[in-house]
Amino acid sequence: MNKWGKLSLGMLLAVGLMTGCGNNNDNAASTDTNAGNTGTTAKTLTLGTSADFPPYEFHKVIDGKDTIVGFDIDIAKDIAADMGAELVIKDLAFDSLLNELSSGRVDMVISGLSPTEERKKAVDLSDIYYKAEQAVVVREADKDKFATMDSLKGAKIGVQTGSIQEDIAKGIEGAQLTSLGKISEIVLQLNSNRVDASIMEGPVAKSFVKNVKGLVITDAKPEVEDDGYVIGVKKGNTELLNQVNTTLTRLNSEGKIEEYVAAASELAESE
Ligand code: ARG
Repeated sequence: MNKWGKLSLGMLLAVGLMTGCGNNNDNAASTDTNAGNTGTTAKTLTLGTSADFPPYEFHKVIDGKDTIVGFDIDIAKDIAADMGAELVIKDLAFDSLLNELSSGRVDMVISGLSPTEERKKAVDLSDIYYKAEQAVVVREADKDKFATMDSLKGAKIGVQTGSIQEDIAKGIEGAQLTSLGKISEIVLQLNSNRVDASIMEGPVAKSFVKNVKGLVITDAKPEVEDDGYVIGVKKGNTELLNQVNTTLTRLNSEGKIEEYVAAASELAESE
């Protein structure tokens, strides 16, 4: 626990509300978004992300200013820099991201996105840049009760709308689903006994459990086929896809991605 102790429910609610109305926030100085431009001639590169997902992408007050940070954002900055473009960040609902991409309102999506078959049909996906496991988060008192996937049968489960976790939960017999737009909202539902469990990415679970009192990760291990995260671009935007993969190859060979993950995890857990 850091010196400030854990976040209270009230603080979490405040953060949830702040970020909840943050849709369409452009996190860059530029007003000329120029979305839809491709390749190395673009002046701006517009990223679509759902910044409710520490340590991947989240809001943090830095030098008194609300800022979107995280290891996905670090990767996005490198892609923009390699293209000589200015990065513009749009904080959007997770389940709207691929539509925004297809309609050209954003140029790329980096948002802890898992490469499902359905998504492969809708947009073009990059190489995998990182892998993580899934985790089940519950209230402390229920840690042993929900220690296996079987024990989740019939449970009230909170998941993010449009996520692979929603699909995992749908596959659990008798589970009663609450699908919500933001992970922070799911955490509130858990804290207020309205859902009993949530499925989320391991690193995200770790970050919430560190910062929110009374929540723990259980021994239950959700299995997914599509492990690993990818970057989405509009179907047919080969030029940008090649640029994205080139930057990912560079970052991997320089050991940068592990470095970004470690730094973002630390940032997510600090006050
Ligand atoms: N990996 C999961 C998926 O692709 C969840 C991603 C959620 N991302 C976020 N930024 N909230 O469905």
